[in-house]
Amino acid sequence: MADHYFSAEPGSADVRRTVEARIWRREYTFTTATGVFSRDRLDIGTAVLLREVEPPTGPGTFLDLGTGYGPIACALAVEAPKAEVWAVDVNTRALELTAENARRAGVADRVHPVLPEGVPEVMRFDQLWSNPAIHIGKPELHKMLLHWLPRLAPGGVAWFVVGKNLGGDSLQRWMTEQGYPCTRIGSAKGFRVLRATNAGPSPS
Ligand SMILES: C[S@@+](CC[C@H](N)C(=O)[O-])C[C@H]1O[C@@H](n2cnc3c(N)ncnc32)[C@H](O)[C@@H]1O
Repeated sequence: MADHYFSAEPGSADVRRTVEARIWRREYTFTTATGVFSRDRLDIGTAVLLREVEPPTGPGTFLDLGTGYGPIACALAVEAPKAEVWAVDVNTRALELTAENARRAGVADRVHPVLPEGVPEVMRFDQLWSNPAIHIGKPELHKMLLHWLPRLAPGGVAWFVVGKNLGGDSLQRWMTEQGYPCTRIGSAKGFRVLRATNAGPSPS
């Protein structure tokens, strides 16, 4: 089977390297690996998201949905020293890298890299951040979002970056239709930055 970055357990050799990135005026060194999304540099879409949205600085419980090697989760935990960050991915190699990168950034005690089923059912999030895995296809993407969006706390906010050519505008409309009013707050380099809020039904 082809080895996609969203494979649960990448079959490719685990060849590691480091990448440097500047996020919210701080410098980071991240370990990345084959079989993980954007292993050569901070993804352009992720960089657009982190440039267009100011970091949270207060306490809270945040979700990085599709964390990859963890750049968003680590930067959130660094900027918000009283926040807990759940870093979710289906790719176990990505989760190992996120744990290592959180250790290097000094935030391993507050970054929780887990498979989706590792997040306690009762957990609610003040903020959700995601460069979502569009390539899993629309039905799977919608299923994933309908699993997590209801877990936004009342008044919670979700931030997304999606390529314009990968359906950013239709995803914005779809989230609004689902009861998560969604606006475009930025657009750069072919990416849309979206902000959705929780006006939807409570999770069962
Ligand atoms: C576009 S990448 C973004 C990675 C990382 N946040 C970054 O900015 O570099 C999307 C990630 O979502 C993960 N993913 C795919 N399906 C998922 C699912 N059902 N639940 C959680 N994560 C998923 C992929 O393994 C991949 O790491």
